[in-house]
Amino acid sequence: MTSSRPLDDAVAVITGGASGIGAATVRRFVADGARVVIADISAESGTALAAELGGNARFIRTDVSSEADLERAVSVAMTEFGRLDVMFNNASIVGALGPIRELEATHYERTLDVVLRSVVFGTKHAVRAMGSRGGSIISTSSSAAYVGGLSAHVYTTAKAAILGFTRSVAAEVRADGIRVNAIVPGLIATAMGPQVRRAIPGYSGGSPTGTLNQSPSDVPDDIAGVVAFLASTDACFITGEAIVVDGGFVRAGQSTSLTRPDLVTRMVDPSG
Ligand code: NAI
Repeated sequence: MTSSRPLDDAVAVITGGASGIGAATVRRFVADGARVVIADISAESGTALAAELGGNARFIRTDVSSEADLERAVSVAMTEFGRLDVMFNNASIVGALGPIRELEATHYERTLDVVLRSVVFGTKHAVRAMGSRGGSIISTSSSAAYVGGLSAHVYTTAKAAILGFTRSVAAEVRADGIRVNAIVPGLIATAMGPQVRRAIPGYSGGSPTGTLNQSPSDVPDDIAGVVAFLASTDACFITGEAIVVDGGFVRAGQSTSLTRPDLVTRMVDPSG
């Protein structure tokens, strides 16, 4: 008798599944028993990953800024695998850079289209496909949604909007058994880092969480594991939530000097 796996029989669409966090999640989902449609603009790496995973994965070239492309990716899940249980709206770019006083409207629009419109219309077509059978929709936000100065203006705006959109749709579709959540990664070692370095001469980057993770190549797996949890029935009572996965940067920050061991006998209490 084979033991059951957390995502046995589940069917998922993963946008941005050809690289980084998306690719780690594709592998994790297949290992957990799911069948996956990899929806990505990069045909070369998407096709290679699907070929490696055999019958459990399909690749469809998808530009997530196009509603028609997203609808097609969802329909591939329906025709190839018979249904849709999980939608992971994950593809994104950093997009427009530079100071706010110089922001170009065309850069603003393209960035919002890839980062935010993609989540809105990916969710629309996932909800349609899931119907009243239920399902799990997960979208990738960023710690930039919580802390100013971590990323570019329009990207930050879009990633914060994803959190509001997640809660809004979660309320609407709860009655259909569809859960809608966001994942909020901190700085993760993926292609995005080198992309930013290429675009910005002299940029050094650096992780605000320092050396918390000893093995940078494993970091996307840390996100994939939480996405797999949100997709699974273990998370059946979680919706409208945003889970921060950043080694504590946003929620735990730096320990203050007020917790120094030498202060153990001291109090600040003017009344006592
Ligand atoms: P990545 O660059 O490794 O992967 C992004 C994927 O999206 C690539 O496969 C790329 O081909 C695809 N993509 C880009 N534009 C697309 C389009 N128009 N249509 C379809 N696919 C497109 O980056 P990473 O780090 O894996 O990013 C995944 C998500 O995590 C993104 O939403 C990103 O904003 C978010 N994130 C990443 C962080 C990091 O430090 N790497 C931190 C916080 C959030």
